[in-house]
Amino acid sequence: MITESLETRISAALVRAGAPADSPALVGPATRPEFGDYQANGVMAAAKKLKTNPRALAAQVVEELDLEDMAASVDIAGPGFINIQLKGEWLATQLGNVLADPRLGVPKDAPQKVVLDYSHPNLAKEMHIGHLRSTVIGDAIARVLEFSGHEVVRHNHVGDWGTQFGMLIAHLDELEDPATELADLEVFYQSARQRFDQDEAFADLSREYVVKLQGGDPHVQQMWQQFIDESLAHGQRVYDALGVGLKPENVQGESSYNDDLPRVVEDLRAKGLLVESNGAQCVFLEEFKNKDGQITPVIVQKSDGGYLYATSDLAAVRYRAGVLAADRILYIVDARQSLHLQQVFAVARAAGYAPETTALEHHEFGAILGADNRPFKTRAGGVVKLMDVLDEGVARAFAQVSEKNPDMDEAERRQIARVIGIGSIKYMELSFNRTSDYVFDWDKMLALDGNTAPYMLYSYARIKSMFRRAGLDEGALDGEIAIGERAESALAIKLLQFPEVVAAVAHQCYPHMLCNYLYELADAFMKFYEQCPVLRADEPVRTSRLLLALLTARIVRQGLDLLGIETLERM
Ligand code: ARG
Repeated sequence: MITESLETRISAALVRAGAPADSPALVGPATRPEFGDYQANGVMAAAKKLKTNPRALAAQVVEELDLEDMAASVDIAGPGFINIQLKGEWLATQLGNVLADPRLGVPKDAPQKVVLDYSHPNLAKEMHIGHLRSTVIGDAIARVLEFSGHEVVRHNHVGDWGTQFGMLIAHLDELEDPATELADLEVFYQSARQRFDQDEAFADLSREYVVKLQGGDPHVQQMWQQFIDESLAHGQRVYDALGVGLKPENVQGESSYNDDLPRVVEDLRAKGLLVESNGAQCVFLEEFKNKDGQITPVIVQKSDGGYLYATSDLAAVRYRAGVLAADRILYIVDARQSLHLQQVFAVARAAGYAPETTALEHHEFGAILGADNRPFKTRAGGVVKLMDVLDEGVARAFAQVSEKNPDMDEAERRQIARVIGIGSIKYMELSFNRTSDYVFDWDKMLALDGNTAPYMLYSYARIKSMFRRAGLDEGALDGEIAIGERAESALAIKLLQFPEVVAAVAHQCYPHMLCNYLYELADAFMKFYEQCPVLRADEPVRTSRLLLALLTARIVRQGLDLLGIETLERM
């Protein structure tokens, strides 16, 4: 990887020039093309430590530095930046290796076992637009981790337990034809809720059902199972439509920890972590002290004996770190649950459920907003069902495709529309930094230009069509890549950055980094294509440029695949 090689060599030169050991070279792509391809910014900080003139230190570093094989030029600029322009021959050799590598230059990491907690809808209701974030981001992270050589255990920590199920089952139990009534989970939930709020007798009955459910009453248990199965089947249809890798066997819901809950509470008691407060069992940890010096407790058992969301999460950490022996446990969960997860992590550490060698990471995300910058709702102000969103995306894409290609056969238009519609929704979701809110905008996500799925798909299909038009067989291209033009080296560098981006996403879990990268790659290709004739060039340049195009297509396809987005050979 370019950054890594430069970092190693320049920091070694820094040390040879007198800087303290481990002085980082701080290498990154050049902020402006006129500065070269890469720059190292570490000299200034090192000079400060040494109390010497940074420009003089930079000169010494360059003196000590051997980049003969890699760099065409190494210059000092400003107060002590080192600017590097890479050699065409070196880039060409690297690209030759990537061309021969089915992994496109991406190495495998030392394998870890990673539990990934994502999607996790509440089964009482239908999946809505809010679930898009965790589901799509989590799935992209799963793919990137697997591609990087890790074992990923997908855990769909669905909300399948709690008092609301009493109300739902009580309602279900009174219906003539439960199967039909469950066809629309949202309507079903709303009617149960309405009865619960308006009818005191029904509310009492619901509470009785909760007790029966918790007590293992066979009939109530069976009704609960029926409801859960229905809701999970609905979720599975959404996952299949979305092309997300969650399967029924990945469901590891809250209820799966039920038997463990009394044990967790007993264990916390045995470890001296429990304090009774107003009849409830609580853990007080110093780190959750507020401004007034009061500690916000983590409640693990209510005064009536009931357990809480935090209790099942503690059991889940214990299972994932203890039984599954995970190296990392990743939670792709709404930012609003950040305090909850911090508390769970802290109690789990204090109780020894997760050793220090198991990383507990909350990767949070913001909200999806409507055009009015408020949480996205239907026109009538209701929840936006996720399935409706997917259907609408495909329908809009179908209209677009049909308008552009009225003569195309309908089945093909439908297939293209599915890939574009679903891909656009997913790409839009992934292209923003997950920590911020974003506005759900059909026109933007379906636009053919900008950092969108249609643009990326088009960039890919265009390269493929170039090969088709020229009647070329990709596998039969015989020749080598040579880098001459500036547009070629800019594209070459982008192609070689793919492994760095994959590694960054695997570690930091920000899929938007991969979207940004692909967008920059497509842009570098576009500039190359505008400036450098491909099919009209003479050999051996023609083959070299075709190989650059081929590699671009492969990386775009692999990159989109890591994001969970399908590609089209023609559009
Ligand atoms: N089901 C929860 C909800 O709908 C999210 C679960 C997140 N994961 C977890 N381990 N707490 O809010």
